[in-house]
Formats: sequence, structure tokens, C-alpha cells
Amino acid sequence: MTTSDLDTLEQGLLADIAGVTSLDALEQVRIAALGKKGRIPELMQTLGKLPPDERKAFGQAVNAVKTRVSEALDTHKSRLEAAALEQRLATERADITLPVRSGPEAEGRIHPVSQVMEELAEIFADMGFAIAEGPDIETDDYNFTKLNIPAEHPSRQDHDTFYFAPNEAGERLVLRTHTSPVQIRTMLRQKPPIRIIAPGRVYRCDSDQTHTPMFHQIEALVIDEHTHMGHLKWTIEEMCRAFFETDVKMRLRASYFPFTEPSAEIDIAADVIGKPGKWLEIGGCGMVHPNVLKNCGIDPEKYQGFAFGMGIDRMAMLKYGIPDLRAFFNADLRWLKHYGFSVLDVPGLSAGLSS
Ligand code: DAH
Repeated sequence: MTTSDLDTLEQGLLADIAGVTSLDALEQVRIAALGKKGRIPELMQTLGKLPPDERKAFGQAVNAVKTRVSEALDTHKSRLEAAALEQRLATERADITLPVRSGPEAEGRIHPVSQVMEELAEIFADMGFAIAEGPDIETDDYNFTKLNIPAEHPSRQDHDTFYFAPNEAGERLVLRTHTSPVQIRTMLRQKPPIRIIAPGRVYRCDSDQTHTPMFHQIEALVIDEHTHMGHLKWTIEEMCRAFFETDVKMRLRASYFPFTEPSAEIDIAADVIGKPGKWLEIGGCGMVHPNVLKNCGIDPEKYQGFAFGMGIDRMAMLKYGIPDLRAFFNADLRWLKHYGFSVLDVPGLSAGLSS
């Protein structure tokens, strides 16, 4: 083969490459040119039959052709790939401004209690609180004793406790009557500084228009070296403002709880439900009692903090104007359709009153 034959071969291969419009066809051209039995390796094999003085020059010439053909293949391949991507992007375009196509999932509803729990979790997360949990079935010790409510304490009677039969160890488990035992669990597990909330179910043997045997509370606990009542009041006020999405008047009314000293009840102005001049109680709070800290191995000389507990159902009723507590737990689909929240909205403040 002469140099001009080699030229012709190169021009032919380059023309084949340029003429190809698909990656598959390009691969065929590559195999025909550079594959094991392709034109160029074939030429290389003839090298041995040449007179020694021609071998070197011819070998170099073939190699140069090989390089140029490879480059042409690569360039054309990138071009075809880019074109294929363009095409996909054009055909697979999605218009994300279109409304969601409603399927069966649009029929479901988020219960107002779940919605409110999510809203509160969001508010407290912004303030740097973590979420803690405890079991619904609690020990007498965590539900009462470690919270500074000893066995004969009168406030045990106020709690209308559901007791389990004593187990082999003689221990009586209870359905927790409040979320406060999560305070104990947290302090036993974690060193200060502590900043947690604990939403969950609580149980009391009590049932009338404003009480159900199971209801929901959210507990908060903050422990560090310099916390005082001012922090407590600010936190609750800020929470109310964010939750009710308006400026709510709030007051702390002196009260008594065994696990806090001083203690207060949290009232908010009933303007939010169109009853100006009246106050509504939404929970209790106070500075954590030194005995409670001691019971959890925390030095009350060094650490102090505040806690509060609020009724979630009550807060949901107030915010969303739901009149009857019992309806919360009737599993009436018509009620849920009316008061529930769309599953397609992410639960949180953005799906609350302002939406
Ligand atoms: N656990 C109390 C109850 O259910 C509410 C409560 C009052 C919680 C004061 C607290 C607190 O954390 O500090 O009646």
C-alpha cells in the first residue's frame, strides 16, 4: 500500500465518521476502522512483510492515521452524545407549575392533632429544641415519684390514673397521666444543657364534654446554669405568637405543681376565639423543683431550668375553631374532611391558618 492509498483510506474513514448520525452506527464505524479485524490493525499486520528500510516510515504513517481517526471518532461521539442529551431534555421537560393530578391520596386528611404537633415541633425547632419521647405505659416512679409526687401525695388523686395490675416485681405500671415523665427520662439520660420538647398521648380516667380518657400534651424542658422565669415567659409568649399567627395576650397565674417551684398556669386572652375579656387556660409551667433535679442526678446548686406542659387538643380547638373535643376521637370521616388538612401539604406552619 502506498502513501496515497493510505491517504484515501483515511479520507474514507473520516467521511464515514462524519456521515454517521447515531451512536450505534458510530460504534460500527469504529469497529470497522480500529477493531481487532479493522482496516488499520490489518495494515499494521502487513508491516512485517515490508522491506526493513520501509517499515519504520510506513509504521509511523499508519500510526498517525490511527491517531487522527481516533480523535475524529471521539469528537463525533461527544457531539452525538450532546445532541442526544439535548433531545432528551427537550422531550422529557416537566411543567412543575401545573397543579398536582389528584389521585386517591388527595382524599386522605391529616388530623388536626397531628397538624398542630407538627406546627409546634417546627416552632420549637426554630428555637433550638430537640424532640424527646417516652412510652405511653410508664412506671409509677417516673410518672409520679421522681417528679416529686410521693406515694401519699394528694395530687396523685387529681390525676385519675389508669393503673395496671402489679407485675411479678410488685411494680405497678400506669398509663402516663402527663408528658412530664419524659422530663425525667431526658435528665437521666442526658447532661445539661437540655432543651427538649415532648409531644404525645396521655391518659386519665375522666370523660365528659371537655375531657376524653386519652388526650395529647406537649412538654418542654430547659436546663442549664442561668435559666430564669423571664426565659420561660418569653419562650411561651413567642410560641403563642408563632402558633396563633397573631399577637396573643398571655398571662402567667400563680399556681401549684409538685415538680415546679414557683409554678404558674398559662392563660391566653380569649380574643383568639372571639371572646374578648375572658382568659383560657392552656397549660402549666414553672421552674423545675430542686428535688426533681436531685432525683435525676443533676446538682440543683449548679443547674436550674424551666418546664411547661400544654394541652395540644385544646390548642387545636382554639386555633382552628373546633367546638367539641370528643369529635377529635370519633373517627368520623365527615368531621375529618371538614377539619383535617390535605396530605399533599407538608404539615407545618405553612399549611396552617394563613393558607
Ligand atoms: N404535667 C402537668 C399536668 O398535666 C402540666 C405541667 C405543669 C407540666 C407544670 C409542666 C409544668 O412541665 O412545669 O397537669
